[in-house]
Amino acid sequence: MQLGLDWGTTNSSAALYDGRKVRLVTLDPVNAVPSVLRSALFISREGDVSLGRAAIDRYTEGNVGREIEYKLVYVGTTELTFAEIGTVQQALYTEIDANAPGRLFLSIKLALADPTYTGTIIFGARWTIEELVALMLRRIAEQVRAETGETIDEIVIGRPVHYSDEARNDQVAMQRMRAAAELAGLRNVQFLAEPTAAALTYRRRSNHEQHLLVFDFGGGTLDVTISRVAPNGRRTILATDGVPVGGDLLDQRVVMGKLHPHFGAGAELGPRRLPLPAFLLDHLAGWQSIVEMHNPRTLEIIDEAILTGNRPKQLRALRALVRENYGLPLYEMVERAKRELSEVKETQLRMDVSDIHFSEPLERWDFERLIGPDVRAIDACLERALGAAGLRARDIDVVLRTGGSSCVPRFVRLLEEKFGSDRLYDDGAGIFTSVATGLGLVFTDPSLRRQLAADGHLL
Ligand SMILES: Nc1ncnc2c1ncn2[C@@H]1O[C@H](COP(=O)(O)OP(=O)(O)OP(=O)(O)O)[C@@H](O)[C@H]1O
Ligand SMILES: [Mg+2]
Repeated sequence: MQLGLDWGTTNSSAALYDGRKVRLVTLDPVNAVPSVLRSALFISREGDVSLGRAAIDRYTEGNVGREIEYKLVYVGTTELTFAEIGTVQQALYTEIDANAPGRLFLSIKLALADPTYTGTIIFGARWTIEELVALMLRRIAEQVRAETGETIDEIVIGRPVHYSDEARNDQVAMQRMRAAAELAGLRNVQFLAEPTAAALTYRRRSNHEQHLLVFDFGGGTLDVTISRVAPNGRRTILATDGVPVGGDLLDQRVVMGKLHPHFGAGAELGPRRLPLPAFLLDHLAGWQSIVEMHNPRTLEIIDEAILTGNRPKQLRALRALVRENYGLPLYEMVERAKRELSEVKETQLRMDVSDIHFSEPLERWDFERLIGPDVRAIDACLERALGAAGLRARDIDVVLRTGGSSCVPRFVRLLEEKFGSDRLYDDGAGIFTSVATGLGLVFTDPSLRRQLAADGHLL
């Protein structure tokens, strides 16, 4: 069997080609859409691994609302070399959360492009980023085999056009991805840009040549492919481009732009009325970085601020957020609100747990203001792609939207203003599954596949 795998920042899906047709595989039977798996990984203290919705549920059950207890543990020895005394061995200890039932990983794909993130220690064992990714890929492959009863002979995995703005980090990400696929035991692996795959799902024939632009806006990246589709169906990729802007970043814009005051922004501490240390609020930039504040020293700083500051209620909310692990629920609440704003003009950002109590209205126009820099970055990316393809916006006949973030009305409007609302096309292949379907379609047409390889698109 041949498999196309869209391993996304937020969601993954897979499409298999059995020699006759392409079909989506059930990756997460407990998910509302079983062909879509949340790209989440949970590793328990006992070493059990869960994926998808189950991973998030296990983390939430075991961690949220729980107070952390710290213990010093030995993690290894290091060698220090001094000019005068030579080399000495030093034991390394770290403070760990003594009762944590497990670790949750979300958006691992984003970490691929971060050369400073090489891995992590999970219950005393060191895992490289490649090993974490490999574990997810292996589990997905096992699920595919369990569901179909067949082995995977060949696989095409999607990749963003650019994992990172920086060419060097982009290369690092790609090398890590290849290494992970190998560690996962996958054979005959190739990679194709995600929007290029989605472009293959466009099958509407026309009597004349068409220019197709795919706008693939997911959780981690925005990716664009411009291709030419000849009347006989033959395709030529004219340009690809992308920026590391995705739904995760939009969620971050909301937290940083609207919620700081509910966690102590503006508090003045002590008789000298010193400001709250800025790093505390900087850490609200992601649920993982909220988790990083889990350490006795940071908690001490927060406790001290509660005692001496003039915003004790908000600072107690910050303490509960960190101490009781409400970072993920905070981000999930914001993500839900953002999705709601794709349907309605106003929603509430609300939390009512432990010491965290706030309700903050969020209107669509305000959200659009917060994501202004991202809209501009994406507009520039579209312009670059058009330039590289040697086309103007009015030369584009069809715009195909895919990826969850392409539902955000501000981006729909951007596309309508640029290309004309009559050019936007809904292919019905599914916002969340058209990349996987396209990756599976690569196998159905040997001449297309040869051409993609010859042109350097299938790597
Ligand atoms: N209706 C909606 N309105 C706005 N955003 C949405 C909506 N539905 C989903 N999203 C966002 O879309 C993102 C997930 O989209 P998708 O599954 O396409 O990403 P992905 O393929 O995992 O990521 P990537 O392709 O960047 O690696 C999330 O950030 C989610 O919040
Ligand atoms: Mg995607």
